[in-house]
Amino acid sequence: MKYSLPRGTRDVLPDETKNWQFIEKTAKKLFSLYNYIEIRTPIFEQSEIFEKSIGASTDIVEKEMYTFKDKSDRLLTLRPEGTAPIVRAYIQNALYKTYSPTKLYYCGPMFRYERPQAGRYRQFYQIGIENIGNAHPFSDAEVISLGMKIFEKLGLTNLTVSINSVGCSVCRPVIEERIKQFIGANLKKFCPNCIRRFDENPLRILDCKNKKCITYLSGLPDIRGSLCHECADHFSSVLESLDSLGIKFIINPTLVRGLDYYTKTAFEIISDRLGAQNAICGGGRYDVLVEQMGGPPTAAVGFAFGMERVVMVLKELKMFKEQESNLVFMAPLGTDQQIKCLQLADSLRLAGIKCDMSYSKTDLKSQLKIANKLNAGYTVIYGEEEAQKNVVLIKNMKVRTQEEVPFKKVKEYFINENLL
Ligand code: HAM
Repeated sequence: MKYSLPRGTRDVLPDETKNWQFIEKTAKKLFSLYNYIEIRTPIFEQSEIFEKSIGASTDIVEKEMYTFKDKSDRLLTLRPEGTAPIVRAYIQNALYKTYSPTKLYYCGPMFRYERPQAGRYRQFYQIGIENIGNAHPFSDAEVISLGMKIFEKLGLTNLTVSINSVGCSVCRPVIEERIKQFIGANLKKFCPNCIRRFDENPLRILDCKNKKCITYLSGLPDIRGSLCHECADHFSSVLESLDSLGIKFIINPTLVRGLDYYTKTAFEIISDRLGAQNAICGGGRYDVLVEQMGGPPTAAVGFAFGMERVVMVLKELKMFKEQESNLVFMAPLGTDQQIKCLQLADSLRLAGIKCDMSYSKTDLKSQLKIANKLNAGYTVIYGEEEAQKNVVLIKNMKVRTQEEVPFKKVKEYFINENLL
């Protein structure tokens, strides 16, 4: 019987992990420059945490959560996103007492039972930040700018920041009323989901992906016209600060995003290299979530990007460079020479030089074959003749040259070759 991985998941194979590490390294470097520190939360949480924060009438909570009961009958959910668990951790550990504002970043797998397609998985990997305790519109701009900086550093081009304001508890009822008025008698033409959400959560109708619903919504008055003064001022200030940071954006008046916790700013970073799943990053402000989940009133803003989508775009742009190999492969010819090479490999590794050898082969041809397979930069050949002369032959696998080096000088040789 052959086993295969569950639908909607994927293996990140060895030749891809270096690309993932490159993205992680680039993001982490920038997070640190903006003074973010890492937080790691569990992969599963009490289901209620997600129901309460993401919202009961969102697609994620209604149909995409991996929820199960454990052996003690606790209702748990594999995290579909990182914001709610981080807010839970922030409150539970009273982080506001230690760090304020609290600038946190996270990386890890998320789980949503969605219909798999290119760029959409049931287990996917997010890298994100949460800036908790910062109400100023400049912090929205800083968060968006940090996202763009990461993508810029990675070499991603043709990105668009799509931005909107979804209002706050003061103006949200006005926005919702306008949407309901606009839809009015046309409601019966909408999909069953939208009909149900009309009374429950009309803002969600703007997020419907059904083509017919999108058509019926055309002509909807810009929801920015219904924003309260505070939200309107905040939004103008975010846009001005984006301008001053040189970040181009487009205002998308129907962008509400699929999570209920957003207030004021909501944004996405879109790549023109992806198909239907073209958002590589999504985020926004959530000024009431901390309080809603039992913490003190605390404004916050953040984003998360999807690793698989970023990898897809970078691959298409051929941005992943083949790295120069710095692996040294030991090729002892004969069992007597093996132990000397084992010792030599040990001392090279101690000096910080990457080294490998095969114990099962002792002839040159098979060992060179393995060295090639491993993409070694150098092979150290050590046969009977070399042992007698107290030297090794170092073969540069790229330029195919070979030179004799005293056994005692091998480490020095590789240090001079900049292999550290
Ligand atoms: P989100 O828009 O649901 O936001 O997800 C963020 C990003 O994760 C998306 O833009 C996309 O790149 C990636 N993503 C989402 N679902 C999938 C999937 N099924 N397969 C592959 N990639 C996916 C959030 O999760 C919020 N927590 C972001 C946030 C942080 N807002 C404030 N702080």
